[in-house]
Amino acid sequence: MSRSRQRLYRRGRDGPPRMAKPVSKSSDIIARTKGSKAYADRARKSLPGGVTASVKYFDPYPIVMKKAKGARLWDVDGNEYVDYCLSFGPLILGHGHPRVLKAIRDTLQDAGTTMFGTPHELEATYAERLLRIFHPDGKMRFALSGTEANLHAVRLARAYRRRPVIAKFEGHFHGGIDELLVSHAPSKTEAEKGLVPMSGSRGTPDHVLENTLVLPFNDLQETERRIKARADDLACVILEPVERSYIAPDREFLQGLREITQAHDIPLIFDEVMSGFRVTFGGAQHAYGVTPDLTCLGKIIGGGLPCGAFLGRADILDIADPTNGEFFHSSTFAGYPIAMAAGMVTLDELGKRGTFDGILAKTRSLVSGIERLLSEHRITAQVPVVGTVFSILFSSRTPRNYRDTLTADVEERKRFDLGLLGHGVFVKPAKPLYLSTAHDDLTIHRSLEAFEAVVTEFA
Ligand SMILES: Cc1ncc(COP(=O)(O)O)c(C=O)c1O
Repeated sequence: MSRSRQRLYRRGRDGPPRMAKPVSKSSDIIARTKGSKAYADRARKSLPGGVTASVKYFDPYPIVMKKAKGARLWDVDGNEYVDYCLSFGPLILGHGHPRVLKAIRDTLQDAGTTMFGTPHELEATYAERLLRIFHPDGKMRFALSGTEANLHAVRLARAYRRRPVIAKFEGHFHGGIDELLVSHAPSKTEAEKGLVPMSGSRGTPDHVLENTLVLPFNDLQETERRIKARADDLACVILEPVERSYIAPDREFLQGLREITQAHDIPLIFDEVMSGFRVTFGGAQHAYGVTPDLTCLGKIIGGGLPCGAFLGRADILDIADPTNGEFFHSSTFAGYPIAMAAGMVTLDELGKRGTFDGILAKTRSLVSGIERLLSEHRITAQVPVVGTVFSILFSSRTPRNYRDTLTADVEERKRFDLGLLGHGVFVKPAKPLYLSTAHDDLTIHRSLEAFEAVVTEFA
């Protein structure tokens, strides 16, 4: 093993001893993850695919983790990884940040219970804080997840407009329910049929497809044409302002979308579940200077615990006021005290001077290092990055929307990702990579050595 590779796999500074086993070749990942394989064989008997969420599955079997700290994960076989998945984005302070753990402990201690089932002070305190950032004269409700936040925002928009049709963008993901899954990931063959609603999951009723209008991201002319043609039926327009968290919008596109929806009084919903506190401190709406009517949040605002929120115009949110008796929104666990506390200290940390800029700088340095390696080895690939998230697409086309990503070779990406796993870099194959405050310069440097090893094998 080369000296640099030995450095790469030396014991982690704050990791437990014994654990950091060198993983030398991508094929070794199979040999070194026997515990994960055994778990997968067992778990498949009780959990479809051996997982609790489809997104957590990958071939030949997902790696099973046992311990985490900062930017590191350790699997059940004792292999160490630098984590670039961070639970699909939320853990922007890394794993087990001391202030987050303390906030959880203190809240449990002070409350003497996990939850009250009544209003409690942290709810309004956190709501006021999020509203100050996103919609100072607005209102909000908490939910338990990003999916739930989007679901209720869309329901509220329908209640406001008293019309049924949801306009959403091809390739945008808003959560695992039939209505939000329409056209979220059409195959190449499906895409060839044109921009028409495609079921995103078996069992989707026809009326769901009939009540969906599909739009093309970053194509203002066609988007406007479609919205105008269906304006009378539309309840809302919902989008990820940063598509799949790594494809940037044109500012004019977002502005044009804002104007056309405003002109027809159609609520514009920004799903900032992913982009919230990942593009900047705040949302894509701050970075691009466009204010939606409703914003949905999740992931980071729970500080690593389950939490979502939908917020925005008070006249729309007030429809949910129970004294009106018109609209039902409920959730046993919404406003979960320890999630409020963990979320608030996460924002405290992120809001410290220089902190967010620090993650941005680390992301840029990792991305430019990967681009350099790919180009030195003459590998055709794109590394689209927005804020603290990036992806790797084996394609010659710079992606501007979902259709462009269909030109990328997904199998190559999975092969690359298995190589990364074999070299101690944890990515969920084919998914974006996320950074946190815990990814320090040394971690980035070592990660780039791992990327170099994979690129060398790959070329
Ligand atoms: C943009 C976006 N919206 C909604 C969701 C769903 O959030 P959750 O998994 O918390 O339900 C996700 C999850 O990845 C997401 O990326």
